[in-house]
Amino acid sequence: MDGNGRWAKQRGLPRIEGHRRGVETVRTTTFAARDLGVKMLTLYAFSVENWKRPQDEVGALMGLLEFYLKKELETFVRDRVRLRTIGRTDEMPPGVQKLLRTTIEETKHFTDYTLVLALNYGARTEIVDAARAYAAAVAAGKEKLNDGSWATFNRYLYTADMPDPDLVIRTSGETRISNFLLLQAAYAEFVFTPVLWPDFTKADLAAAIAEFNKRERRFGQTSEQVTGPVKTVAK
Ligand code: IPE
Ligand code: MG
Repeated sequence: MDGNGRWAKQRGLPRIEGHRRGVETVRTTTFAARDLGVKMLTLYAFSVENWKRPQDEVGALMGLLEFYLKKELETFVRDRVRLRTIGRTDEMPPGVQKLLRTTIEETKHFTDYTLVLALNYGARTEIVDAARAYAAAVAAGKEKLNDGSWATFNRYLYTADMPDPDLVIRTSGETRISNFLLLQAAYAEFVFTPVLWPDFTKADLAAAIAEFNKRERRFGQTSEQVTGPVKTVAK
């Protein structure tokens, strides 16, 4: 979700106003995605690098997150949205952690649709955490070092029991990954849109999904393999 700051700047408003509008887009996009048939939506809300922003902006973002979580709990329960997180959430402010725990607990039995918030998330941090946990499991005799398969290591990522993303969308015209789900997005399709996050609508999401549907995903195979042999049509 990128472009909140630029959205505000274009209007001569403080950056936080862009973030406030960005929260509205989080709300609308959460339900737009579900309407469009998405089963899991992950939003990159706060990265491990975002702490380096000016202290007042970080504080305002945490405040907004708290406000959002307080307001959404009821909506999530009513509309059967399961909330989960990825990232080092134990380093988030205690108030945010408490709200996260409550919301995650109260929505954990919903199975149709999941919203994942990436909070204090970074793919490199995730890999370090996973390698540490894997090494500890090997040391404890719970894993065999020689069985170093992807399927095994995958269980130590924050996303252990989540499917890989099929589609990754970045708003605001930047064409970078910025440390987001590096391993999980190995075979994802990417859509980059110039739309700033506060302006992102259901139609923009639908357009990105339509673009995704046009792509041929080969996962290392040939086009013929994935589409099947060309059949001779008898006239
Ligand atoms: C993304 O918008 C929001 C968060 C990182 C929380 P930015 O704040 O990065 O917006 P720009 O890049 O300055 O426009
Ligand atoms: Mg940005």
